[in-house]
Amino acid sequence: MSARDEIKRLTAPDIRARKGGEPIVCLTSYHAHTARLLDRHCDVILVGDSLGMVMHGLETTVPVTLEMMILQGLAVMRGSKRVLVVVDMPFGSYEASKEQAFMSAAQVMKETGCGAIKLEGGRRMAESIAFLVERGIPVMGHIGLTPQSINTIGSFRAQGRSEADWGPIEDDARAVTQAGAFAVVIEAVAEPLARRITAQVDIPTIGIGGSVACDGQILVLEDMLGLSPRVPRFVKRYADLGPSIEAAVAAYAADVRARTFPGSEHVYPLRAKAK
Ligand code: KIV
Repeated sequence: MSARDEIKRLTAPDIRARKGGEPIVCLTSYHAHTARLLDRHCDVILVGDSLGMVMHGLETTVPVTLEMMILQGLAVMRGSKRVLVVVDMPFGSYEASKEQAFMSAAQVMKETGCGAIKLEGGRRMAESIAFLVERGIPVMGHIGLTPQSINTIGSFRAQGRSEADWGPIEDDARAVTQAGAFAVVIEAVAEPLARRITAQVDIPTIGIGGSVACDGQILVLEDMLGLSPRVPRFVKRYADLGPSIEAAVAAYAADVRARTFPGSEHVYPLRAKAK
């Protein structure tokens, strides 16, 4: 392959430049094989810390570690060529100080080769976001429902349910924008609030349960494929893969038990011929 044929990966500035333009398509992926399938259709793949719940069966994202994120970030980088890969910073790896945030984010970027990181929090994280961006680390913000705060907020309920609660979320959006984030995820907020924020900030807003008013959308891949046991109400299921995987596994098990497992009769004669 000549250098000219090489596929250029999308960058954080490319995504930033899409504000108000063609909607930005984002999905999560944690594996090389799903990343390969998503690569042609998405603009951004997020290696979300939701992997703790989706892959590991944890109740929350709180126990997820930096090592888990780096391992899956590497897999997604190997599986994709075109998309911007964003890796989530897990709980406890960035909140203590801007220096801690830089050290953890730099480790993620060096060890995975990803193009950006995401971290949760609005005003409280603004100083750290600015510190990272000034030092060469593109940051995607995440406001509204921030699942890593589950132990202080108490539930995964929608945020800004009454108009009186909108102000702080709008302030969060402005703070991450002013700090230099290239995009911001808005999770589980009502449409009028998402619309107001999208109009107020000059970076793309990426909604997850944040309505069509956002500049782009993200979903957890397993949720939209029907592979997650519980999904938030806003998730549209584009496939129901659970039953077809189970049917395939059941057919395989039946073949094995009936000694009708196909394969060996094809492989061994060929090997014999090759000798
Ligand atoms: O961890 C994740 O998958 C996320 C998305 C839900 C935005 O943060």
